[in-house]
Amino acid sequence: MRSRILVLISGSGTNLEALLHSLPNSRIAADVVAVGSDQEAAGLQHAHQRGIPTFVLGFEKGMNREAWARDLGDAMDTFTPDLIVLSGFMRLLPPSLLARFESRIINTHPSFLPEFPGAHAVRDALDAKVVETGASVIVVDAGVDTGEILAQSRVSVFPGDTEESLHDRIKILERQLLLEVLTTLIPTP
Ligand code: GAR
Repeated sequence: MRSRILVLISGSGTNLEALLHSLPNSRIAADVVAVGSDQEAAGLQHAHQRGIPTFVLGFEKGMNREAWARDLGDAMDTFTPDLIVLSGFMRLLPPSLLARFESRIINTHPSFLPEFPGAHAVRDALDAKVVETGASVIVVDAGVDTGEILAQSRVSVFPGDTEESLHDRIKILERQLLLEVLTTLIPTP
């Protein structure tokens, strides 16, 4: 039986697009069955183009986080996912939601964790003037990028790198790492 992957995004979804392209050409017995977001993210178009269902659970200032997470969990459950991939999903998930999906939520992150956790990992690496940063795939826990590291790899920072040029190189690694992790996590039928 093929595994059901649900992806959550917040932004442009270039990693999602790469996954949607490479998964059907891989030996990984899984399909992306739905894509969710916390806002009307541009990246949802990659799902629309392939006829993959999408949903948006917007989080507005002053909203009750637990109620939002419950609604998000309900929307996710509709698709009975075996695995949830946070791919540029920029919102912390409360413990109640993590408990609901146990250890089935993984996250890609643009740094060599535990270096540079948080929402500005690439900018933080440039500001710190490191010569190397990296990419990681982790299990999501209640902390900020503190979960178990499933795979990670290094990338050099070049003189003259901008946040965009460095991030683009890191994303190439993230995409490879995610496929490696999916290969190990998804059972072969
Ligand atoms: C990716 O680099 C992802 O790792 C990062 O957002 C980017 C999304 O790019 N996520 C985080 O920083 C989470 N802390 P994309 O929208 O082009 O796929």
